[in-house]
Amino acid sequence: MAIEIVQASSVELSNIANSETHGEDSPYFAGWKAYDENPYDEFHNSTGVIQMGLAENQVSFDLLEEYLENHSETVSWGKKTPSFRENALFQDYHGLLSFRKAMASFMGKIRGGRAKFNPERVVITAGATAANELLTFILANPGDALLVPTPYYPGFDRDIRWRTGVQIVPIHCDSSNNFQITPQALEAAYEDATSKNMKVRGVLITNPSNPLGATIQRKVLEQVLDFATTKNIHLVSDEIYSGSAFYASEFVSIAEVLADRDYKESERVHIVYSLSKDLGLPGFRVGTIYSYNDKVVTTARRMSSFTLISSQTQHLLAAMLSDETFTENYIRENRKRLRARYEMIIKGLRKSGIECLEGNAGLFCWMNLSPLLEKNTRECELELWTSILKEVKLNISPGSSCHCSEAGWFRVCFANMSEQTLDIALNRIQVFMEKRNKMIHA
Ligand SMILES: Cc1ncc(COP(=O)(O)O)c(C=O)c1O
Repeated sequence: MAIEIVQASSVELSNIANSETHGEDSPYFAGWKAYDENPYDEFHNSTGVIQMGLAENQVSFDLLEEYLENHSETVSWGKKTPSFRENALFQDYHGLLSFRKAMASFMGKIRGGRAKFNPERVVITAGATAANELLTFILANPGDALLVPTPYYPGFDRDIRWRTGVQIVPIHCDSSNNFQITPQALEAAYEDATSKNMKVRGVLITNPSNPLGATIQRKVLEQVLDFATTKNIHLVSDEIYSGSAFYASEFVSIAEVLADRDYKESERVHIVYSLSKDLGLPGFRVGTIYSYNDKVVTTARRMSSFTLISSQTQHLLAAMLSDETFTENYIRENRKRLRARYEMIIKGLRKSGIECLEGNAGLFCWMNLSPLLEKNTRECELELWTSILKEVKLNISPGSSCHCSEAGWFRVCFANMSEQTLDIALNRIQVFMEKRNKMIHA
């Protein structure tokens, strides 16, 4: 449990400590708190809050557990095993070569083998959170801007802005073209930043997108890369959800676009990846920065001293990720299970008269509840969110917490619970919608 700040202290703290730019006062995190205070449990608290605001992947845990059961040598240390001592002392910020090799190969596999990664360019970090912040420290100075398409992952406010002092300038996307990034929106964001005297250092995209649950089309990726090239700025591609694309062929990595262009302009491109989503291991804190820029790789490696991955975790994952039979089966089966979950939620929501943006990836769908709003405002969206949290006991994330410029959209996660719990959540939504419809037609 967090400590409530009740002391009236006269001892001063730093500007960072006093800053509000961490964004943790947003409804995104408030919903988590409501869940923590009254969590749903099938047997002990069946009227509790169901957590649909957490992009966790729990659908393939059995595959990981089966691997660990059959390969106990990767997690246990014999007294006489020399590697225990080696591992206990290992603190090289390059990371274990075996781990970097396995990670590079896994990153290629998850992209259907259409992209290749060099282990020498893999920088290890404690999750994508650390990777995004670390990259921001390297690419931009305090007060500079990164352009980020909206709606975006609420954690970026903390990861990109809080400690670095860098600003996020939104690239506004809307439902008129399924929230795709356009050259006009890119240009408008750039002008917005420069009109406020900010130096634009780069564009940060998430592909597949969180919260839209959709992959970015190749043509759009090319336009974003062309834009970055014309403006001579960086392009960061957060590809943490790459393994969640329901069909491998529907996800195009920026790495593929670079390969098609013979790696021209590649020194401005950096990929962020982690195992938090694809393997469902956020607690292991395993992330990487993959940069095509030598100086960024070297600097990131130096900075990674602050956020390394424990050698024990590297050791375990080096073995797991280099097991071809395991990884191939895992990637295929995990995609299939996520696709089935997505179909289940979409079908259930449709039955209640709710439509979602057409998705093809991710651990969530982007649900349109704008027909329920009295007015198309953020206030009305938050009123609706509060009643869903308080009456329906579901924590979903309002679009405004993702900086969406249109009111009425919500991110709903479906992979962090059992099918039975998802069924209960869908029933609760159905009852809520029936009540609302009766009110409207009364
Ligand atoms: C787009 C995006 N980037 C980064 C993160 C953070 O991931 P990690 O747990 O690897 O720090 C998340 C987590 O939800 C995310 O959705």
